[in-house]
Amino acid sequence: MSKQVVVGVCHGPRCRDYGGLTLAAQLKCQGMAVETLGCQSLCTYSPIVRLHDRIIHRATLERTETAADAPGRRYCLPD
Ligand code: FES
Repeated sequence: MSKQVVVGVCHGPRCRDYGGLTLAAQLKCQGMAVETLGCQSLCTYSPIVRLHDRIIHRATLERTETAADAPGRRYCLPD
């Protein structure tokens, strides 16, 4: 049985502008549980992802998957 990865994605204004909402949708599409986070006061490095006790600066889908040790793609239809 695999353990589901829970990822926090900042939905603060700066991270939204830099793709936080799209990243959250992509991570959900990959089967990760996504939590909505408020501004993490790291706006310079947006978008911000929190994974366990780690912060991922300028997060992308690829960087988050690598950090979560959950590589692999699922096919997802856009909403
Ligand atoms: S808006 Fe995301 S860290 Fe500030």
